[in-house]
Amino acid sequence: MISVKARLCARIESVSSLSPPQGNLENHMRPTEMLSADHRVIEQVLECLEKLAHAASSGRGLDLERGNTVLEFLSMFADRLHHGKEEGLLFPMLQARGMAENVGPIAVMLNEHDLGRSELARLRKALAAVDPAGFASAASAYVELLRDHIAKEDGVLFQMAEDRFSDVDRQCLVAEFDRADRNQLGSGVRDRLVESANSLAGSLGVPFGASRSQAPRSRSCSLWPCP
Ligand SMILES: [Fe+2]
Repeated sequence: MISVKARLCARIESVSSLSPPQGNLENHMRPTEMLSADHRVIEQVLECLEKLAHAASSGRGLDLERGNTVLEFLSMFADRLHHGKEEGLLFPMLQARGMAENVGPIAVMLNEHDLGRSELARLRKALAAVDPAGFASAASAYVELLRDHIAKEDGVLFQMAEDRFSDVDRQCLVAEFDRADRNQLGSGVRDRLVESANSLAGSLGVPFGASRSQAPRSRSCSLWPCP
């Protein structure tokens, strides 16, 4: 079975050998805009998680039902689908356009994805054990990690990507992101998760776009080692 990465590379090769695409992408969503749109939904759920963590740490109990809804969303939408698109499609395309894999932005992002998976495992364990303090601790660490991670991507990495990509690259990624959104989790699952995020946010009074992620002001070498 052909891997997603191999299929992406094959698409880049096959599309690159054809005539340049007609028109431009000005009227279409760019691949980095598709990922940023995912970020807005993820941030909404982070706000919900922060509220649940605050309730758990202030003696108001651990809301197992909402906690498990958040965990399912973060595991499926944020990690498996969204981080899957970055790891399987965006990063390989960046590598194909000259960005190193083992140092710099890609290495930092991959490490943060792994740290996030560790915090999700802690969150899952705390929910299973009905452990409010453990839940609050893992939730706070995860929220802080993901907000900072999203700010780096939206504020710096995605502009670096746009500077490197051609219109053909963008068209390949948009097509592959769309395919992943439809198929990666199974038919209709992405839409169901977004609906559950919206209804969770509604039940907790979290408005859409209530982001606390702070975009970095510059492409500082403090974000990752400068090449
Ligand atoms: Fe992301």
